[in-house]
This record gives sequence, structure tokens and C-alpha cells, in this order.
Amino acid sequence: MSNKIQAIRGMNDVLPAESSRWQYLEHVLRALLGGHGYREIRFPVLEQTQLFKRSIGEVTDIVEKEMYTFEDRNGDSLTLRPEGTACCVRAAEQGGLLYNQTQKLWYMGPMYRHERPQKGRYRQFHQLGVEAFGMADADIEAELLLLCAEFWRAFGVEDLVQLELNSIGSSEDRARYGVALRDFLVPLRLQLDEDSQRRLESNVLRILDSKDPATQALLHDAPRLTAFIGDESRQRFDRLLTVLAEAGIPFRHNASLVRGLDYYNGMVFEWTTERLGAQATVCAGGRYDNLVRQLGGSPTPAVGFAMGLERLLLLLTDSARWPAGIDDCLDVYLALVGGGVQAQGLLLARQWRQALPTLRLLTHCGGGKYNAQLKKAYGSGARHALILEGDGPQSSIKLKALTSDEPATELRLADVVPRLRQLLQAH
Ligand code: HAM
Repeated sequence: MSNKIQAIRGMNDVLPAESSRWQYLEHVLRALLGGHGYREIRFPVLEQTQLFKRSIGEVTDIVEKEMYTFEDRNGDSLTLRPEGTACCVRAAEQGGLLYNQTQKLWYMGPMYRHERPQKGRYRQFHQLGVEAFGMADADIEAELLLLCAEFWRAFGVEDLVQLELNSIGSSEDRARYGVALRDFLVPLRLQLDEDSQRRLESNVLRILDSKDPATQALLHDAPRLTAFIGDESRQRFDRLLTVLAEAGIPFRHNASLVRGLDYYNGMVFEWTTERLGAQATVCAGGRYDNLVRQLGGSPTPAVGFAMGLERLLLLLTDSARWPAGIDDCLDVYLALVGGGVQAQGLLLARQWRQALPTLRLLTHCGGGKYNAQLKKAYGSGARHALILEGDGPQSSIKLKALTSDEPATELRLADVVPRLRQLLQAH
């Protein structure tokens, strides 16, 4: 038996070969968010368990089955955040951002759910979350959906994702619907799966999320939420659909779309793809006008979404939509051949980087013969090698292209920076 310690199942390392892809995703997302005036908020990965129970809902898959909850040394019940909305509301409220103000915020980072791992579903995964507070009308809903569409365009995957949306009405609408759904299901109680039987008493709407085929078949003839939606929600939803149509964003109104978290009201949406098998939802969200008050703040309309970054990454990989050159991370490999050039090489590398701030130059460390160092230079992915060879005043510098067979050429020390500048510009 191996005594090597392995990572926790469903929690992945990102090795250097993949980290440039993550950086690219994060960079593009940050730039677009900044361009829309959204500001970053950061909060801890650990929160009091109560925060999630009160927001996501006690009778939901996340809270009942998926949270990483433990007691700390003081006996307090803490939970690794399974999502960011509740944390964002907690942090924004605590930081005084929500009182009589509008806010457009985003966050990015790991979330934790104890689900069964499979492609696109992990126990530690990463979300970009975007939350907008203090705006009650359809214009902010439309802006968020347009922002998502901008993300897809920037990554070149707009043809691979589809928008589905629905209005799930106000909490009063849903309470009336809950009564009707319960009346319909009570006589069928024994045909429901075990979870749904329990939810009949505790949170009847969650039965709609059941993955059990028999329960889903029974729901086929159940009353529909759409019939219970009040005029105000309906009108707001219609305004949103009009803006989307005007903006040329294709969508499907999916009347059976409900979300697995309790805090939503009004419009909810999901962007899905056919490229990722069962884990098809890349991005999802909706309005949650009651959550701030529920967590102790004053009534504040809110709407937001979160995107699963692993799923976006898989989608770009699956569809080969990564931009060319994204994995290149080096311009120059500096080889240092001969006993006396190590210190000189480190100092020269520093000067060159200072003169050319975008230069990505790796200095060889660890000695070795010319051929061995050049082999490493080829393996590094750099396009050029600089070879500093010799001893002190007798040292010489050569430049060698690593992407062609051209022989190395000798350079004067003073010519290195201008030559590197040319090479950087040419790329
Ligand atoms: P959610 O639907 O639970 O919503 O998650 C949002 C997205 O996170 C999913 O669509 C999916 O892309 C990704 N995701 C969820 N679970 C996993 C997993 N186990 N592995 C990989 N990716 C996963 C929320 O979290 C809400 N906080 C969204 C929101 C923000 N609503 C309003 N504001």
C-alpha cells in the first residue's frame, strides 16, 4: 500500500500546464467586470453554518446533504461556503454597503459541496459570482444577462450556450402554488421518493427538483407555477423579455425552471450547454429580493448569478476555443554556461527585466553544460535563448531562436535590450 498522501476526492490541483488557462479566464472576466463598473468584494471561505441554513434554506440538497460543516475548537458550527451569495450579502451588509445605496459587486473563488464527483462536478469548485443590490426593475436583470452574453462572446463560445429563463413569482405567489402542489401530491404520497415524501411536509416546492424519474413522471400532471404568478411579476418579466429580444439575445422561456436554492423570487435563469454531458449548467442565478431582510438588513432588492469556472474551462477545452499562444509563458531562456557567469547572469537578467517590464525571461539555475542547458531551453517553451558564456570580462552573449534552425548570433551587451524589444514587438 502506498503511503503517499493524496488530495481529497473531488478537490483538484491546478498544475502549471493548466494554470495559464485559469489566469486567462480570470483576466478576461475581471477586465469585462471592470468595464461594466462592477467592483470586487472578498470574504472568507468559512462562515457560520447558520448563514447558509437561513439563506439557501434548511430543506435543500445543499444544506441537507452537501455542506462541509464542522465544529471549531470553540464549539461553534462553521461551514465551508457552498456558494457566495449568502456570504456576499453578509459581508456587504456588515460593511455598510447596502444601506440606501446601489451596489454592483463580484467575487471569484473556491466553493465547497460534498457532491458525487464527476466531469464538471467537484467538491471544491470555483465560481465567479456577480451580485447587484438596490435595483428593483428589469433593467438590472437585463444588464446581468447582457454581461453574461459578453463573457460568452469574449471567450468565443456564444454559439455553445443557451439561455433559459423563467419567472417564479413573489413569495406569496409561490405560497399559493405550494398549497395547490401539495393538494395534488398528497394522494400520491406513497409513489414519491423518500426525500420528496419528507419535503411534502417541510418544503413542497423542492419536490420539483427531485431527480427520481418516478417522482418526475408524477409531476408531469401537477399544477404549474406559471398559473399562480401575479401581475406585477408577470409584467416585470415581460419587460425583461422585451429588452432581451431588442438586444438580440436568444432565450427560451422554460416554465419548469426552478432553482435549487430557496432565496429566489421573480426571474431566474440558467445558461446551459450541450457539450458537457450531465453537468450542463455553466452559469445560473436570479432575483432574491427577500434575502437581505431575511439576514437582518433592511429590505433591499437584489439579483445576481454565479458561473462555474471549471465548466467554462471544460467548455473551452472541449470546443478547442482557447486563443493561440495562451500556453506560452516565456519569451527568453537565459542559459549561463561556465563557472564565472552565474552572478553576472542574475544581475543582467534583472537589468533586462527592469528595462522591458513585459519581458518573461527565465534564468537557468543549477549549472550544467551548454548542450544540457540548451535542451532545457527547448523544453521550456521559450521562443529564444540567450546564452551567456565564459568567465567575467571574457564572457560573451549569444541569441538563439528556438523555433527555427537558425544558428546562434553573437550580441554586444549594449544591444541585448534593443534586440529583445524588437523580438517582443514582433510577437
Ligand atoms: P448554483 O446554481 O448553485 O447557484 O451554482 C452556480 C454555478 O456553479 C452552477 O451553474 C455551476 O456552473 C457551478 N457549480 C455548482 N456546483 C458545482 C460543482 N459541484 N462543481 C462544479 N461547478 C459547480 C449559486 O451558487 C448561486 N449563488 C448563484 C447566484 C448568485 N444567484 C444569485 N446570485
